[in-house]
Amino acid sequence: MFHFFSKKLFLKDLLEDFVDIHNHILPGIDDGAKTIEDSLLLLKKMKALGIKQFIPTPHIMQGFYPNTDETIGSAYQILLGALTSKLLDDITVNPAAEYMLDSNFESLLENRNLFTLKRDYVLIEMSYFQAPLNLEDTIFKIKTQGYIPVLAHPERYSFYHNNLEYYKKLKQLGCFFQLNLLSLSNHYGKNVEKTANYLIEEQLIDFVGTDIHNEGHIDKLSNLVLNKKIVKSLDEIIENTNRTFSVI
Ligand SMILES: [Fe+2]
Repeated sequence: MFHFFSKKLFLKDLLEDFVDIHNHILPGIDDGAKTIEDSLLLLKKMKALGIKQFIPTPHIMQGFYPNTDETIGSAYQILLGALTSKLLDDITVNPAAEYMLDSNFESLLENRNLFTLKRDYVLIEMSYFQAPLNLEDTIFKIKTQGYIPVLAHPERYSFYHNNLEYYKKLKQLGCFFQLNLLSLSNHYGKNVEKTANYLIEEQLIDFVGTDIHNEGHIDKLSNLVLNKKIVKSLDEIIENTNRTFSVI
């Protein structure tokens, strides 16, 4: 439970039984864990933070991380094979993916061949330099195919930082938003932090995730002190994330 009267409000106090819907802990298939040893270390440290359910979301990005059912499936099998019963005790690991909005995604979408976070929720991302020209069209197509788009870390797209109203447009189109917990610190820079606070205060965020790639990210999460103004809203977003994605 959260201690509202303690002097410093640590994020980690909100993470008991958290369902993490965005992380890169599968070994050797993207810019996250490189080896199975890395994966085990990340899992162990995240479990110590209170996280109980893991949805690894390797990038599927044409030209960079050409992951498929096979590559994700075999990385998942390697992880399952290496988990000791002690480490596996009271946690769940169910892989999905983080899809870059590119032409490969469009063909997977047409074939309705997407890994979902749970039910119909699909985690998508776009380039940090610019949004795809057909973004609104793509969101429409995702919905038409029966999926629910969840945009990863909307606060990190700096081309929207001076156009905050556009976030509301994306929400109206039926896009859900997943904020990165590290965006609540200056990890990605001051403007990302400011935008993250704005999106929370405007109640535009549906879910949160860690987007953990390495041990350094976990250390920063463990020490992250929350801005008191957003604690109540954040607590509700975490509850909503757990309620929507728990498989227990
Ligand atoms: Fe990610």
